[in-house]
Amino acid sequence: MTKKVGLFVGSLRKGSYTRAVAQQMAAQLPDGYEVKEIQIGDLPLYNQDFDDENQVPATWKRFRDEVKDLDGVIFATPEYNRSVPAVLKNAIDVGSRPYGQSVWDGTPAVILSVSPGAISGFGANHHLRQSLTFLNMPVVQQPELYIGNVTNLLDDDLKITNEGTLKFLKGAMATFADLITRFEN
Ligand code: FNR
Repeated sequence: MTKKVGLFVGSLRKGSYTRAVAQQMAAQLPDGYEVKEIQIGDLPLYNQDFDDENQVPATWKRFRDEVKDLDGVIFATPEYNRSVPAVLKNAIDVGSRPYGQSVWDGTPAVILSVSPGAISGFGANHHLRQSLTFLNMPVVQQPELYIGNVTNLLDDDLKITNEGTLKFLKGAMATFADLITRFEN
């Protein structure tokens, strides 16, 4: 049966480098996987008052139902002020509650950080990793996916031009697929 992978992108802008790299990486998953970007830009900010089942925003419910259905998740993040953009952290928080009902629990994940800068989103990558550890998500440890100086890797259509980078991302997707298989129910 086809396995479902959700793509979560921590940038809302149309021309996002992060989304461009993530989509080209996800396209290299082996046969038998389908990838869908899960929208996170419409989620109201997490508010514990809305854990009350009569007050849950419809978008939170839609989001949680979509995540529950996934076999694996790709988190693709830019770095904002050396950390995870608020929109992505908010999505993680929304999925993690109400207490004891986290939709992330046990789901295999892989983290990609992307930056036009040389530090490659290291801060965001590791802050994200810290949250996923707490959320009990098995995460691809190696290879670590830091894509720095990204504008040098993309052409005007945001296509990756560097064969070495494509090969590296393909190998990472094979490792991610192995992780999903190891943890499937
Ligand atoms: C940034 N940027 C940035 N880059 C980086 O490498 N480290 C950082 O800490 C930050 N901080 C930061 C804060 C804010 C609020 C913005 C808007 C931007 C630059 C960032 O990497 C750049 O805008 C990327 O192009 C954002 O990713 P997308 O939107 O292209 O995917």
